[in-house]
Amino acid sequence: MDKMWAGRFDKALDKQADDFNSSIHFDKKMYKEDIKGSIEHALMLSSVGIITKEEYEKIADGLNSILEDLNSGKLTFDENAEDIHMFNEAELTKRIGDTGKKLHTARSRNDQVALDLRLYMRNQANDVVALLRELIGALKEQAENNQDAIMPGYTHLQRAQPITFAHHLLAYCMMLMRDVTRIEDAVKRMNYSPLGSCALAGTTYPTDRDMVAKSLGFDGICLNSIDGVSDRDYCIELESAFATIMMHLSRLSEEIILWSSWEFKFIELDDSYTTGSSIMPQKKNPDMAELVRGKTGRVYGDLMATLTMLKGIPLAYNKDMQEDKEAIFDATETVIKCLGVFVPMIKTMKPIKENMYNAATKGFINATDLADYLTKKGVPFRSAYKIVGTIVGECIKKGTTLDKMTLEEYKAHSDIFEEDLYNEISLETCVAKRISRGSTGYESVKEQLKYVTEFLK
Ligand code: ARG
Repeated sequence: MDKMWAGRFDKALDKQADDFNSSIHFDKKMYKEDIKGSIEHALMLSSVGIITKEEYEKIADGLNSILEDLNSGKLTFDENAEDIHMFNEAELTKRIGDTGKKLHTARSRNDQVALDLRLYMRNQANDVVALLRELIGALKEQAENNQDAIMPGYTHLQRAQPITFAHHLLAYCMMLMRDVTRIEDAVKRMNYSPLGSCALAGTTYPTDRDMVAKSLGFDGICLNSIDGVSDRDYCIELESAFATIMMHLSRLSEEIILWSSWEFKFIELDDSYTTGSSIMPQKKNPDMAELVRGKTGRVYGDLMATLTMLKGIPLAYNKDMQEDKEAIFDATETVIKCLGVFVPMIKTMKPIKENMYNAATKGFINATDLADYLTKKGVPFRSAYKIVGTIVGECIKKGTTLDKMTLEEYKAHSDIFEEDLYNEISLETCVAKRISRGSTGYESVKEQLKYVTEFLK
C-alpha cells in the first residue's frame, strides 16, 4: 500500500522496516476514540468555515459507517496500514472520495494520537475504578460478616496481638480506596485536550480548540501545543496507580495463599477459584492469587518501560513514544483481569473462624494486655513488660499458655496479680478493650465499616 507521505520519497519503505514501524496491531484498540475525535474535529472545521457543512456531514457519515462496520466485524483492520489513524483516514477516502482528504486539515497524527490515548485511557481508568469499587464492596461485606472472628494479628509474620478478621480486611479497603482516588486525581489532571496542537507548533487556521475539547468531555485544552503532543505524564501516573493496585493485590494474594495452606487454614477458597494438581490428588491450589502476585511484576515493568522511554527524548514528538501504548495497554489489561478474578474470589471465600481463634490462643498474643493490666494497677510499663516477659518465658518452659497459669504462679512474679487478670487476658476482652479510634475494637471496626460504606455511595 502506498504511504500517505510517499510523495517525498523515491523508494518504498523496506518490508521489514515497514512491519517494524507499524503500530496498527496494537493501536487499533483505539479505533472508536480515533473516529469520535475525527468527527468532532470535522464539526469544528465546519463551524469555523474551514470546510463546508455538507463536507462535514459527508465526513461524519463516512466515519460513522466505518465505526459501525468495525463494530459489527463487516470491516476488518488492514494489518498493512501504518497505524489506526492512517487506516481510518484511508478507509474514509475510499468511502467518500476526495472530501475525506480534507479531514486532516489543521491536525497532525501527533495531536491525534495524543488525543486518542487520553480518550481511551479515560474510559479504561473508569473501568478500573468500577472494579476497584466492587472489590472494596466484596471485602467490606466479608468484614461485616466477620466482626466477631478473632485471629492473630502479625508483625514479622509472628503472632503479635489479637485482631478481628474484619479489621484485617478493612485495612485492604483503605488501601484500595486510596487507589480509587489516585486514579481519579490522575484523570482530573489528564482531562485536557491536546487536539489542535497539530504537529507541535499549532496552526495558521482559525481553529476552535475549546469547542472540540468541550464536545469530547475535556475540562479544557492543553495550553502549550509542544506540551500537548509530548506529554505522556498521564500514562506514567496511571501506570503508577496501577502498579500500586497490583502491589496491594499482591500482598492480599500472599495472605490468601498463606491462609489457605494447611498450616493456617484460616480460609477456604471456593472450588471455582482454585485448581488441582496433575499428580497429587489431594491438592487444591490458590492459582488465581499466585498469578495475581506473579503478574505484579509485569505492571511494574510497564511503568519502568514508559519512564525509561520518555527520559531521554527531546521535545516534541519522537517515534519512541509509539512505545507508550503497548505498555499502558498491558498494564491496564493486567490490572482489569486481576481485579476481575479477585472480586468473585473474595466474595466466595469462606473464613474458618475456629482455626483463626485457635491460632490466636497460641503465641501469647495477649501478653501486651497482661502488661497493660499491671500498668493500669500502677506498675510502670517497662517494669510490667519485664514481669510479663519472664512469665512468658516460664510458660514456654512449662509448655503452657498465659490463661492456664494459676494465680499462685502469677503471684510468684508480682502480688499485684488478682483473679480479674483472667478476664483481662481473654481474647474477647483484648479485642473489646481496644477503644482507640482505628483500632481492632468492635466499635472502631463499626466506624471503619461506616466510612467504607459512605465511600462506596
Ligand atoms: N503511530 C504513531 C504513535 O503511536 C502515531 C503518531 C505518528 N506521528 C508521526 N509523526 N510519525 O505514536
